[in-house]
Amino acid sequence: MTVTRLIDRYNRRLNYLRISITDRCNLSCIYCIPQGIHNKLPHEEILSYEEILRLVRICVGIGISKVRVTGGEPLVRKGVFNFLANLNSINGITDVSLTTNGTGLKDHLHQIRSAGIKRINISLDTLNRHKYKKLTGFDKFDDVWEGILSAMDKGFHPIKLNVVALKGINDDELEAFAELSRKYPLHIRFIEYMPIGTSTAGKGTPLLTPEIKESIRGMGELIPVKNSMTDGPAERFRFSGAQGELGFISALSRHFCSTCNRLRLTASGQIRTCLLSDEQVDLKSPLRSGATDHQLAELIFHAAQRKPSHHQLNGSDASSIVSTQMSSIGG
Ligand code: 5AD
Repeated sequence: MTVTRLIDRYNRRLNYLRISITDRCNLSCIYCIPQGIHNKLPHEEILSYEEILRLVRICVGIGISKVRVTGGEPLVRKGVFNFLANLNSINGITDVSLTTNGTGLKDHLHQIRSAGIKRINISLDTLNRHKYKKLTGFDKFDDVWEGILSAMDKGFHPIKLNVVALKGINDDELEAFAELSRKYPLHIRFIEYMPIGTSTAGKGTPLLTPEIKESIRGMGELIPVKNSMTDGPAERFRFSGAQGELGFISALSRHFCSTCNRLRLTASGQIRTCLLSDEQVDLKSPLRSGATDHQLAELIFHAAQRKPSHHQLNGSDASSIVSTQMSSIGG
């Protein structure tokens, strides 16, 4: 068969690949990989960098132009900076970005920059050191904050802070986060908690975007900012005169599935077409048993054709429909 561009059954052009390069993380955030759960894949189950790069080249041939590297925590994998540089040098890739928990940033900004990365997303759910330790299991808030300041100083842009909104946990800090966007050129992104894996952190009553907006209403008018090509699903705003921005990612209260342009490659070499579905297509076995580039492209193309029109979660029922841990999908 002829494999052409990645356009799915619902006419969505898939041009964005998120790659989880490891399921390991040096934190264990309660909403992502609760403590006590260590489903780390053995090394041989994880795609090598060469294997990932080959798959990315194949993906580029059928329409992928943008990639984001995630984990687990991508910076804990050996050789990551070299990998990032190799990824950046693939012809046809126009944008490589990184999602990190920020704990290793301050020591590696130079290498990240040298690998050609300008855009970084950092997961940070509290501005309080003690709460950070409770949430993540580790006393690393100061490291992350130092990394953020240093990344701004070195001109990384945009720097987005991912804040998963959790009732009873950080709902008292929403204003403080929003305030950061006035003071710094940071993009604060409030993310609705998605019930994925065995975490129970945000289950029960989810904190949805309308409530988050309500709780920062007194801070001033939210002026809409037009989305650009690389924005993804965030609804963007800015306070008058602010250096940074606010974004809301509302997977539950406001489906953005109709414009979803993403594919995901897990650390174990599975293609996932929807974050909120367990369905996946295995690329690792064919890759390791001699499949040609064309055969692999066909598999990816077929996977894309199975991308669901929309996910099955809704705002009032936050029970999990995805059994895989977030840490092995990469967000
Ligand atoms: N719901 C919503 N967002 C999550 N993240 C991790 N787990 C969840 C979850 N259950 C976010 C983290 C990370 C991003 C990739 O995904 O904030 O920054």
